[in-house]
Amino acid sequence: MVGRKVGIIGAGFVGATAAYSLAMLGTCHEVILYDISPGIALGKAIDIGQSTNYSPKGTIVTAAEEPSDIKDCDVVVITAGVPRKPGMTREDLLMINAKIMKEVVENIQKYSPDAIVLCVSNPLDVMTYVIHQMTGWPRNRILGMAGALDGARMAYQIHKSVGFGSGQIKAMVIGDHGQNMIPYPEISVVGGVPLGQLISKQEMENIIARTKEGGAEIVKHLGTSAYFAPGRAISVMVEAILDDSKIVMSSSVLLEGEYGYKDVTVGVPVVLGAKGVEEIIELELDEEMQAKFAASVDSIREGISVLKQNNFFA
Ligand code: APR
Repeated sequence: MVGRKVGIIGAGFVGATAAYSLAMLGTCHEVILYDISPGIALGKAIDIGQSTNYSPKGTIVTAAEEPSDIKDCDVVVITAGVPRKPGMTREDLLMINAKIMKEVVENIQKYSPDAIVLCVSNPLDVMTYVIHQMTGWPRNRILGMAGALDGARMAYQIHKSVGFGSGQIKAMVIGDHGQNMIPYPEISVVGGVPLGQLISKQEMENIIARTKEGGAEIVKHLGTSAYFAPGRAISVMVEAILDDSKIVMSSSVLLEGEYGYKDVTVGVPVVLGAKGVEEIIELELDEEMQAKFAASVDSIREGISVLKQNNFFA
């Protein structure tokens, strides 16, 4: 257990819930939280630390006072960012969060130079690309968390539609973590049974639509974005990396020719293990899926080009 240390940068709703999930599962020896607002990191670290009294395995939960305290981590999760405020354009938000990412990544390079980095901040795929550009690290060490969450949201919708198979549903979502995400019912299964043998094409379309609206639906009810499912989705990925369990999970990764694209980060199924991305799995996409994937890649490239136009990488 000793040596399994996870840093979480950004101790807001998502970061703290990921820490809580890790602590409740006893996944690692130590979780350390950092936030630009120190009271947030410290208050939540104390609260989560106290909760571990009743967890199956002990986890040390601490707060970093300085970015340099996030040192020698095996995995660093980045959830730092600001939400879109009234009057802010998408471009404004992109530039603000990219600058936060730059600062965060410089510190990771200094203090946890061997870590696997899991990006959660939005816009997810573009922020994951920023980390690749900033570090130049081997691509297996940097990945974005989106498919784990979107897949869970899709599984929830499948369960609502078929009415059975709880805990037995495997749902795949590829592409970007935004409006052009691609829920893939044709390769989703309930207890091993292909979804197409259980529901109609129309029901599949409904599941696709509801999955894409999964995040917005929660914002509508709650007034803020989701954090329980994102937190658990982070912890399942961290667990796979620390345990070297080599599970297959859709993740945002840098393509170098796979699926016919390069120099872009996008969600595809990968094998997750101690090296981070152990392997990229290339699905055979039919023409319709290829078109959807192209639209998804285009939307991510639009975000990347905004950064380039603003000389972000110069
Ligand atoms: N360094 C460290 N922490 C920062 C920095 C920074 N430079 N800038 C902002 N933060 C912190 C904020 O103080 C805040 O506590 O990041 C935290 C973000 O938390 P929330 O605002 O609660 O947002 P949350 O819902 O947790 O979402 C975080 O994950 O899913 C994505 O879109 C979401 O990008 C967002 C991120």
